Amino acid sequence: MLVDAPAAARHGGDMTTILVTGSSRGIGAAIASTLGELPDTRVLGHATRSGIAADLSQADAPARLWAEALEQAGGAIDVLVNNAGIFEASPLDADDWSDSWARTMQVNLTASAELCRLAVLHWQARGVGGRIVNIASRAAYRGDSPAHWHYAASKGGMVAMTKTIARGYAAQGILAFAVCPGFTMTGMADDYLASRGGDKLLADIPLGRVASPEEVAATVRFLCTDAPPSMTGAVLDVNGASYVR
Ligand SMILES: NC(=O)c1ccc[n+]([C@@H]2O[C@H](COP(=O)([O-])OP(=O)(O)OC[C@H]3O[C@@H](n4cnc5c(N)ncnc54)[C@H](OP(=O)(O)O)[C@@H]3O)[C@@H](O)[C@H]2O)c1
Repeated sequence: MLVDAPAAARHGGDMTTILVTGSSRGIGAAIASTLGELPDTRVLGHATRSGIAADLSQADAPARLWAEALEQAGGAIDVLVNNAGIFEASPLDADDWSDSWARTMQVNLTASAELCRLAVLHWQARGVGGRIVNIASRAAYRGDSPAHWHYAASKGGMVAMTKTIARGYAAQGILAFAVCPGFTMTGMADDYLASRGGDKLLADIPLGRVASPEEVAATVRFLCTDAPPSMTGAVLDVNGASYVR
């Protein structure tokens, strides 16, 4: 039987419950605030030490986060937004290159994968559909700087994982999308722009400016609510045409 995941999959009663990771600042804060304006919607936020607190560099954190979110949600989560991520430079000659690789993979990819896995199992156990929105990056397609092999690889992995989930569970109404922002003006992008000479970097963006967190949030809101089920597996770019594929 085909199970359709309706707009803002309303399977938890009247309320739609959305878990957003990394909602303390930057893109995640904009996503949580935009989703919080939707009617009949409860947003559960998360960060290292705020919202539902869990440090995703720790292997057991995703399971603890999911369990706590489920408890706060009264046993039903409808949408998962994997946004938490790190962008830490790791030059090739750094002594801790391997540790840095492992940490970025753990936070950006493995923790997201664990949460996706728990979400899929949760929806399957309840016999309902659900939606996953994974925040990847333009780096998934374009690559990143020589100090960010791990970052680009983690985001490429996220895109491949999202497509796999979309193909695997569409018939059960479980939909998965990815968003690939280019430079987005948050704390993270500020540092990067400054380290890369600001204006020169902007010249590579035909739109003439970096994206705003609100633009990424509007894209996520669409994917959490109105995006038609046939879009499952789609990867949406938000990068001012700086990388067109
Ligand atoms: N900004 C960009 O230019 C850009 C471009 C493409 C993709 N992205 C992606 O968009 C997402 C958000 O980026 P952003 O720029 O908004 O980042 P940000 O401002 O640095 O915020 C990162 C968020 O992730 C959380 N986080 C980081 N490490 C964590 C950990 N170990 N455990 C739990 N939470 C952790 C942070 O929580 P704390 O406050 O507790 O640290 C914070 O809420 C990331 O996945 C990033 O890769 C960003």
